[in-house]
Amino acid sequence: MYFYKVKKIIIINGPNLNLLGKREPEIYGTESFDDYFKSLRDKFTSLDLEYYQTNIEGELIDKIHEVGFSYDGIILNAAAYTHTSVGIGDAVKGITTPVIEVHISNTYSREEFRHQSFISPNARGVVLGFGLKSYNLALQSFL
Ligand code: DQA
Repeated sequence: MYFYKVKKIIIINGPNLNLLGKREPEIYGTESFDDYFKSLRDKFTSLDLEYYQTNIEGELIDKIHEVGFSYDGIILNAAAYTHTSVGIGDAVKGITTPVIEVHISNTYSREEFRHQSFISPNARGVVLGFGLKSYNLALQSFL
């Protein structure tokens, strides 16, 4: 008999990403994340997908701790905290669940302060610059 274990993956979004669809649409597009997330669920039916967003740094750390020893994968867009948060970097380092760092925009083609990431050194991989499709590409790595 063949037992298929459905992988449990969470997308964690950081500050201001609740404004997707309204915020700087020339950079981040016009689709809300809730709508996009529905399309991801429809597409990746073989994955058990969850979504969490907060604007608060400590809540991002708490969520990473909560899921970081039992889930199969974390897709993390820590948004602005990517470039500033030693605490989130340490949280990613301290867990066992693999983390894929995602950004909607190509942070390397933007201001210099966005070139620094405290997540990348401990991420399994990084996907950036493909718009919302970056999340889709990151999810494919779990198939
Ligand atoms: C972002 C890039 C960050 O520099 C920025 O602060 C964000 C979004 C992205 O997805 O492109 O809020 O993480």
